[in-house]
Amino acid sequence: MILVAEPAVGGLKGELTPPGDKSISHRALIFASLARGRSELSGVLESEDTLATLGACEQLGATVERIAGRIYITGTGGELKPLTGAVLDMGNSGTAMRLLAGVLSGQRFNSTLSGDDSLNARPMRRIVEPLTMMGANIRATQQGTAPLQITAVSSLKGIEYVSPVASAQIKSCVLLAGLFASGVTCVREPRLSRDHTERMLPVFGVDLPAPCCVNGGSRLKAAEFTVPGDISSAVFPLAAAAMVPGSEILIRKVGLNPTRTGFLRCLQEMGAAVTILNASETAAEPAGDVRLVFNGRLKGIDVPESRIPDMIDDLPALMAVAATADGITRIRGAAELRVKESDRLAVMATGMRTLGIELGEHADGMDVQGGGGISGGRVDSAGDHRCAMSFALMGLVATSSVYIRDAQYIATSYPGFVTDMNGLGAVMHSGES
Ligand code: S3P
Repeated sequence: MILVAEPAVGGLKGELTPPGDKSISHRALIFASLARGRSELSGVLESEDTLATLGACEQLGATVERIAGRIYITGTGGELKPLTGAVLDMGNSGTAMRLLAGVLSGQRFNSTLSGDDSLNARPMRRIVEPLTMMGANIRATQQGTAPLQITAVSSLKGIEYVSPVASAQIKSCVLLAGLFASGVTCVREPRLSRDHTERMLPVFGVDLPAPCCVNGGSRLKAAEFTVPGDISSAVFPLAAAAMVPGSEILIRKVGLNPTRTGFLRCLQEMGAAVTILNASETAAEPAGDVRLVFNGRLKGIDVPESRIPDMIDDLPALMAVAATADGITRIRGAAELRVKESDRLAVMATGMRTLGIELGEHADGMDVQGGGGISGGRVDSAGDHRCAMSFALMGLVATSSVYIRDAQYIATSYPGFVTDMNGLGAVMHSGES
C-alpha cells in the first residue's frame, strides 16, 4: 500500500489515547498464558505483532476470551500443550520470536519458530548462545537466523549471562528460560534496556531474588493488568506537533517508564514545550498524559549515547523532528538500528535524502542537518512500520505530497495511525498501490 502524507494546512489540534504498549502487551499475553488461573488484561494492543503472540499462546494451550474490550486468558499453569509439528508463525515480530524461544527452550516437546522475510533475516545467535549455555537444544540457520528449531529437553540450568548488547528481547528470553531452569538465572547488560519483564513478573506472582534474576521453577499466578498506551506510537503525533506550527495536542494514558522516555527528554532539550500531566502508576508501569504545544522552531542536539536504549524505537521519529530543527542533530551508539525490522539507518538515510534533507550516515548513527526544508517525493519504507510513520511526519512539513511505499506494515504496531493523525487535522490517505 502507498500512503500519501499531504503538507499540513494548519496546526494539529486535539487529543488521543494511543494504542496499548506493544512490548508490555506481548509480555502480558505470555505471562497470563504461563500463569495458573484466569487473568484479566485491559488495554492490550491488538496489532499484527501482538496477535502473532496471542495465536501462539492459544496453540500452547491458553484459553482466550474477549469481553467488552478486555482479554481474559486462562493460563496453562506452566504446563504448556505440546505442539504437534506445526510451525509457530511470528510474522514480523522480533519480540514474539525471541521471548517465546526462551519459553519453548525449556519444554519437553519440539517446536519451530519462523516469521516473515524481515524477521527471518534478523540475528538470532544473540539468543541461541545464552539458551545453549543453559542446556537448550536450539538451532538457527547457518546465517544465525530463523527458522529456529527447538528440540525437547528434560531440564535447563540457570546461568549468569553477561549480554554484550543492551537488549530487552535477549534479557527477557533468558529470564523466561530461567523460569524453566534449575537454580537462579541472572542477566547483566551494558546499559539498562526496557525493564518491563522485571517490573511485570512480580505482578504475576514471581518474586525476583535479586534485580534482573529469576528463581528456576517459579510459578506465575493470574493477575489483573492494565497495559498503558505505547509511548513508541505516541511519539508520532508528538513529533508531528513539534514540527507543525500552531499545533497543540494532548496524548492520554501513555506509558512513561523511564527506560522508554528518551524521546521526550530529547524533545525538551531541543526546546519543545512538553508537559507531563496526571502522572500515575498503572500496575507496575508508570503512565500519564503528555501535552505538547508548538512553541517555535527547535534546535538540533547531540543525543547522549547513554540515552539510546531509552528511545531505540523512536530514533526514526527523532530524525524527522531533527530535519525541521535548526542545526545538526547527532545520533551515535545506535548500531542496533541496523538489525531492526529493517536497517533503519540505511532506510531512513535513503528516504530522507530523496526528500532533500542533508545528512551524514554513520555505522552507528546519523548526523541530520536540519532546517534546510523538506521536499515532496516517493520513499520506500522497506516494510518497516516505524520508518513508514516517520516519513509520513516529513510529509506534514514538506513542500508537496510524500508517497510512502509498503506502508501497510504500519499495522504491525499502530493500526489506527492514519485515523489518529487525521483526527488531529493531518491529511493522510492511501494512494495507488
Ligand atoms: C523490545 C525490545 C527492543 C525494541 C523492540 C521491542 C521488547 O528490541 O526495539 O521493538 O519488547 O523487548 P531489542 O531488545 O532487540 O533492543
